[in-house]
Amino acid sequence: MLEILEPIEGRRAWRALSAKPLDRETAETVLRAAHLAPSCSNNQPWRLIAVDDPETLASVKAQLSRGNYWAEPAPLIVAIASRRDLDCALSDRRDYFLLGCGMAIGNLMIQATALGLIAHPIAGFKPEGVKEILAISEAYTLITLVIVGHRSDDLSDLSEKHRAVELGLRDRKPLDHVVSWNRFSFDDPPTPPDST
Ligand SMILES: Cc1cc2nc3c(=O)[nH]c(=O)nc-3n(C[C@H](O)[C@H](O)[C@H](O)COP(=O)(O)O)c2cc1C
Repeated sequence: MLEILEPIEGRRAWRALSAKPLDRETAETVLRAAHLAPSCSNNQPWRLIAVDDPETLASVKAQLSRGNYWAEPAPLIVAIASRRDLDCALSDRRDYFLLGCGMAIGNLMIQATALGLIAHPIAGFKPEGVKEILAISEAYTLITLVIVGHRSDDLSDLSEKHRAVELGLRDRKPLDHVVSWNRFSFDDPPTPPDST
């Protein structure tokens, strides 16, 4: 139990990356961890595109939002794409492909952390551009990119804000803000009218 909690506690969205290459065997270990995730009816909706070819990596990096400048040295980027119809889509908006892919990425991040690597998911990228570069068809949702690599001690390339996050403590709401017992009891703000 404690052995599992260690990489979960140790995982952070670290941004100080080194450009040290990542061997294929290590990359395959983290990809295998992703593929061991559970899924509705064992549909395995995740499609993982592992990018380590220098030219393709550079093209993908050119599609990242400016705030993700820190990903530049990454030797590996894992794109995860899926389609709603590749997994259970049940009543009450239960589109499980997103959950399945999330669990796969969770496994990947924990395995990467256990290997001493950074695995940082990002939403800040141009999905159309990355899809074109990686030949992902329009029908798929490119859910996230995971920036993978070795950690660096050198924080000098990080912005002041990111340096402070890197050196700061993990930021989480108190547990009782997100857990209630036996009854839903949360004071979330009302749903905005156009968000259902
Ligand atoms: C779906 C998703 C999208 C994210 N997008 C970005 C991003 O574009 N850029 C970034 O620097 N961090 C991104 N993050 C990292 C989060 O900011 C980070 O996980 C959060 O602040 C909590 O910090 P922790 O992971 O270190 O506990 C993303 C995380 C997730 C799960």
